[in-house]
Amino acid sequence: MAISARTAAIAALIVANALASAAVADPRRGAALARRSCTSCHVVASGQAQANPAAPPFPTVARRPGFDREKLAFFLLEPHPKTPTMGLGRRDVTDLADYIATLAKK
Ligand code: HEC
Repeated sequence: MAISARTAAIAALIVANALASAAVADPRRGAALARRSCTSCHVVASGQAQANPAAPPFPTVARRPGFDREKLAFFLLEPHPKTPTMGLGRRDVTDLADYIATLAKK
């Protein structure tokens, strides 16, 4: 019994690892991150009431001509002016950029 539980735990870990490395960018994770870290200033999805008027809503950012996910992810690695350090990692910024890109279609 103890052995099979351990084996199951190890198998679960292996599957979780495989999933994590397969996910290059995950817009759903980006959406969750945006709701957690960005709503205080930005409108992160259509339907949200206005936030900080100085911060462009994400759907607007996504629809700008010349919008580029790579550039956005790169921009997010640095805290932007008037914004406290966000401490976002590489995966966070690509997920956020992918999420924001999906907003252009809505
Ligand atoms: C404390 C408020 C604040 C928070 C929190 C914040 N931002 Fe911003 N953001 C701003 C302001 C103000 C601007 C516009 C002026 C500027 O660029 O500094 C901005 C600009 C931007 C822009 C547009 C840059 C451009 O090209 O015009 C993007 C994209 C962006 N923020 C993404 C994010 C993301 C993603 C998060 C969450 C991880 C976030 N911001 C969190 C205040 C904030």
